[in-house]
Formats: sequence, structure tokens, C-alpha cells
Amino acid sequence: MTITEIQQDIKKRLGKLIPELEIRYKAELIYEVLCLKQEKDVVLLGHNYMEPALFYYVPDYKGDSLELSRIAALVEAQTIIFCGVKFMAETAKILSPEKTVLLPAEIAGCSLAESITAADVRLLKEKFPGVPVVTYVNTYAEVKAESDYCCTSGNAAAVMAAIDSEQVIFLPDEFLAGNVARETGKEIVTFSRAELNNGFVAENKEVIGWRGRCEVHEKFTVTDIENARKQFPGVVVLTHPECPPEVVAASDYSAGTSAMVRYVEESTAPHFLLLTECSMGDNIMAANPEKEMLRLCSVRCPHMNQITLEDTLACLRNDQYVIEVPEEIRQKAVAAVNRMLEIG
Ligand code: 13P
Ligand code: SF4
Repeated sequence: MTITEIQQDIKKRLGKLIPELEIRYKAELIYEVLCLKQEKDVVLLGHNYMEPALFYYVPDYKGDSLELSRIAALVEAQTIIFCGVKFMAETAKILSPEKTVLLPAEIAGCSLAESITAADVRLLKEKFPGVPVVTYVNTYAEVKAESDYCCTSGNAAAVMAAIDSEQVIFLPDEFLAGNVARETGKEIVTFSRAELNNGFVAENKEVIGWRGRCEVHEKFTVTDIENARKQFPGVVVLTHPECPPEVVAASDYSAGTSAMVRYVEESTAPHFLLLTECSMGDNIMAANPEKEMLRLCSVRCPHMNQITLEDTLACLRNDQYVIEVPEEIRQKAVAAVNRMLEIG
């Protein structure tokens, strides 16, 4: 496609989402990214949360963290560029150590990944000896290396169901853990670092959680849902399972990002309230122009929003930023990731 063709296509597909003045600029960036991509032995993976112009034109593969992990394990190109956040790029490196993995922004973190360290997991294992550890993929490699299983929001309940144990340590998202516990009829207790270190009292609950939270999804409330239902009777409410359990309980459907996308595509309802990162609502709306997506765009993921078209172009030009995982950590982490991939 030429720059003019890209420009016309953006106008047609994303014209309602991207201001007219920005379209030419974005088209030029997309053109340069696509040309450079052709010259290099790279594959570009894009998470569902990427902004619409990047999401629609740049990635070779798009999806949620589980789908992109699976693809990262199979791709043939020598370099993987991960348009997502650091823990996702690290998971790609864990699965494909022989490849160069690049993250377009120097820092694109995640409040969940930053909420827990490997030392915290070791302490939990000391306090609950022999209890299997399930770790959400939104964690760094050192934490995965201390775990028995990984999971994503797309397979958390399946991973829990596959473990033959009375008790499970589920880290680090207290809300995802709470939602899985609710779904599977289990009781949960959560701990903070301070509580583990001072005056710890073991509790015999089936799920042992950690007080990590997603800084985006923790902000959604039941009142947001009630207001939308009053204003738009018949609105279908979708929540990501990183939302508080009472918010998930008040919604019509809760699942990982790709399952949310599929749900909207398959539903005949005219209005949807999407309680997750705002860009995904934009992307769904672009693909389903007849459906109205209500979304709370004052709540955005600052980490996902670090990844721009400009950064992606700089990443391709300068081979930056290289993701490294020390081999001894990788070997331990890959066992937990592979156990997840085998389960589903
Ligand atoms: P998914 O695994 O559902 O894509 O979610 C990743 C994430 O970071 C949600 O906030
Ligand atoms: Fe992490 Fe939340 Fe951002 Fe997802 S939306 S990357 S969980 S901070």
C-alpha cells in the first residue's frame, strides 16, 4: 500500500476515532514501519490494547496474552517485536530464547508485575509449604521462576481445575484470584508483604492470594455499571477479570481480552459497556461499526499506552529495546509457562 492508500483506508476504517489532522502523519509512520518490516527478519506481535492505527496496520499477529505467548513459541523470524508490555515480551523470550525479543518502549511495566518479587513468593512458599503456586502471566521472569504454573485471564480457571491440591497459592492479582475463587466455589484469603513478615497467622482457605491489583481495572465500580444500565437499557456489560469481584458479579460477561472481542462480535445487542483499557473498545468499534461501545476512557493503562507508532518505528530502526532473561531464571520460568500451555 502507498501512503495515500493507507491514509484513505484509515479514514474509512478509523475515521471516527482518529482526528483528520493526524491521519496523514499516522499513515506515513505506518508506511515506514511496513517497509522496514519487509526488509528485516522480524515478526510483530500486537496486544489487543494497542491504539487503533497501530493495532490495525502493524502487527503480523494480534491477540491476548495467552494467544500471543503461543505464537511467540512458534514463530520462525529471528526477531520478535512485542507491541505490548514488558512481562509479555519477557514471556516471549522465555519461550523463544534463541530469538531476539524487542519491546518498543524502554519502560512499559504493569502494576501487577511490580506488586510482587521472587523473595515474596519464596516467603509465601515457606509459610505454606508444599502448596502449589499459580502465577498470573502479568509478572516478571524471576517470579515465574519461583512458580509451578502460570496462567492468564483466559485460562486461570482451567489451570486451577487441573491442579490436584486442596490449597493453591494464586499470585499476584487479588481480584483475579477472587473472581476465580468465586467461579470455582472456593474460599480465599489474601496477604500483603507486611502481613507475611509481621504477625503472620496461617489461614486454611483454599486459595491463598496476594494484594496485587491492576491500576486500571481496580478503578471500575458497580456504580459505573448501574449508571450505564439506567442510561442505556439493554446495555451488555463486559468486564475483565482483573476488575473487583463485585464489579464482575454485576456484569453480564467476564473474560480475557480476546474472549471479550469475540463476545461482542457474536452478540446482536446494540450497546456494550466495556470495563477494560479504552483502546480495546476503539478497536472493537472499528471492526463492528454498527455496535456502540461505551467505555470509560479517563481510565487508561499508562504502560500499554507507552507503545506508539513512533516507538515501533524506532524499535525497527535501532533494534531497541532488547529483552534479556538470565538463562538459570528462564529455565525455571519456562517450566511454569509450558505447564500452562499444556493445560489450555
Ligand atoms: P489479557 O490476557 O486478557 O490479554 O489481559 C492482559 C492484561 O494486561 C489485562 O489488563
Ligand atoms: Fe498491567 Fe493493568 Fe496495564 Fe494490564 S491494564 S498491563 S494488568 S496495569
